[in-house]
Amino acid sequence: MDARTSRYPEVYARWQRDPLGFWAEAAQEIDWLEQPRQVFDPNAGVYGRWFVGGVCNTCWNAVDRHVMAGRAEQPAIIYDSPLAGAKRTITYARLQTDTQVLAALLQDFGVAKGDRVILYMPMIPEAVIGMLACARIGAVHSVVFGGFAANELATRIDDAKPKVILSASCGLEPGRIVQYKPLLDEAIRLAAHKPDACLILQRPQHSCELTAGRDHDWAALRDHAIVYARSVYDCVPVEATDPLYILYTSGTTGRPKGVVRDNGGHMVALKWSMKNLYGVDPGEVYWAASDVGWVVGHSYIVYAPLFHGCTSILYEGKPVGTPDAGAFWRVIAEHGCATMFTAPTAFRAIKKEDPKGALLGQYDLSKFRALFLAGERADPDTLQWAETLLNVPVIDHWWQTETGWAIAGNPLGLGMLPVKHGSPTVAMPGYDVRIVDEACKEVAPKQMGSIVVKLPLPPSCLPTLWQNDDGFKDAYLAEFPGYYKTADAGYMDEDGYIYVMSRTDDIINVAGHRLSTGGMEEVLSAHPDVAECAVLGIKDALKGEVPCGFIVLKAGVNRPPSEIEAEIVALVREKIGPVAAFKLAITVARLPKTRSGKILRGTIKKIADGEAWQMPATIDDPAILEEIGGALRGRGVGG
Ligand code: COA
Ligand code: AMP
Repeated sequence: MDARTSRYPEVYARWQRDPLGFWAEAAQEIDWLEQPRQVFDPNAGVYGRWFVGGVCNTCWNAVDRHVMAGRAEQPAIIYDSPLAGAKRTITYARLQTDTQVLAALLQDFGVAKGDRVILYMPMIPEAVIGMLACARIGAVHSVVFGGFAANELATRIDDAKPKVILSASCGLEPGRIVQYKPLLDEAIRLAAHKPDACLILQRPQHSCELTAGRDHDWAALRDHAIVYARSVYDCVPVEATDPLYILYTSGTTGRPKGVVRDNGGHMVALKWSMKNLYGVDPGEVYWAASDVGWVVGHSYIVYAPLFHGCTSILYEGKPVGTPDAGAFWRVIAEHGCATMFTAPTAFRAIKKEDPKGALLGQYDLSKFRALFLAGERADPDTLQWAETLLNVPVIDHWWQTETGWAIAGNPLGLGMLPVKHGSPTVAMPGYDVRIVDEACKEVAPKQMGSIVVKLPLPPSCLPTLWQNDDGFKDAYLAEFPGYYKTADAGYMDEDGYIYVMSRTDDIINVAGHRLSTGGMEEVLSAHPDVAECAVLGIKDALKGEVPCGFIVLKAGVNRPPSEIEAEIVALVREKIGPVAAFKLAITVARLPKTRSGKILRGTIKKIADGEAWQMPATIDDPAILEEIGGALRGRGVGG
């Protein structure tokens, strides 16, 4: 770990000198049906487009080409589900057949290039097969995380307008079966757009009734596909700039943003990252313990490991409780994982249950080389605990749904740079990261500011929002002209190490899951007894942050506040989903505001987090903050 022995400075400088040459070289790792005419066209799209004129297919690069190149019998996916008590190994050859069959079925349902398909799926192989089958025929997939409620699914259906929805009878959570079908039915009822058909995979844990005329038994169709479906033997050629998928993520309102990923740039950047950032070779076992519903799942459960010819682990379980805090060590040992990637919250959960890491002793982790963390700020305590326990590099890296791969990281494959706890290290090639003030002027080292990336963004980053160029410009490009706004705040030190400290918007990170407090406020305000509300993220030892909602009741409401609070908690679960982890609603007489009427969220958060706070000079009535402090203490929160 020496800045002098790492190839990073040389590689980053090479990119700075000749960005197009850098990416043209990286693009040689991808099979193209037609080579791109231009590596980057600054006049195309909103801020330019990558690999214009290139013709390719993502499924070919993830699956077929490895079968041709001798990896047919190598496991592509190892499904390991302590929740279902099941394991299944899918070779590259089998994955090819399975995607061909589903691609053919989708085509029989009229799905063609450019059509959208929504996947509302648990962590089972069919989710991966579904994504790849879409890629195979040039259809655009949009995966919706299973922990979202019907309402959230409905919003996505109306935005993406899918021709077909792929789903399953249920998901599995510890101690409970999550029935998907009622959620799917309700979402389709709520949505203005109706899909032509739904393919439902009946899982052994729960079987659901199919809706006549709309739903089809996925497995039955698959089993008859050989005689029934029109075959898609070949992958359908698409433009490098054609969309591969839409992934909705929380924005500053309740309406999620449809992040678009293209085919060409996505493949080039992700393939580059596997060797250079993660230090993994083709044929090795790579594990991202996330969910296919999140960007980490898209990039590092499904696409990148497969582009690279690795074996990817699909784990349907938790870090603790399935069955114990040794679950991760068991998976690493059993499948010989070289690298693992998860969110810090998973390690906080393990640390809480097994602080001395006693369970580790039962497993052979000799093949394990590195742990990567992302999705939320990696607190130095947890990071150091993992380093000491595992005795391998623990690498924090920072990225977003919008980018699809790391903005900053410590590049294991290029030779690690010295670790500075609290920093995800340095910008990856492709990203020119700056810290600016409100006037878009760069600030001095170690000074806090907004973290921005000079345009153009590198390959794989979003070219736009789904059918919403103006929304893309407004949300990301307008505030700092010439730069992409990450909406993260932080600083950079003299060595170029980036420190990501907080969001500049209303997004909170709950157990590594990105949620909008604005979206939750919309739900709270809709309760008939609520006059006013504020939701903010407060510190949580396990999940990093959890939402806390303050409500002011309408005059004349004289039901017990605890009853209304329970209704509010249930309402957020019903409207947004259990993933919101909204469990704390507190009734207060009034909310603290500035004289101009802005709710003092920052100060409330400090009180709740037990941090030192100062009375804001602009406060309307200082006594209200005392009331808030009292209400929080009444619930065991704050100092
Ligand atoms: N479908 C339905 N419900 C789901 C779900 C899914 N796919 N995923 C989570 N939920 C539910 C949980 O069951 C829980 O419900 P509950 O309120 O009835 O207990 C709720 O959503 C909140 O989930 P979560 O915040 O994940 O809390 P948890 O207590 O279930 O688990 C951790 C906490 C830390 C173990 C878990 O978040 C974890 O493993 N995180 C690390 C990996 C990760 O998710 N990374 C994502 C980005 S890289
Ligand atoms: P998501 O789009 O769900 O991946 O969430 C992206 C957001 O998570 C970022 O904008 C950050 O706020 C936060 N985040 C992700 N990784 C890190 C990290 N390594 N350190 C600090 N914050 C992070």
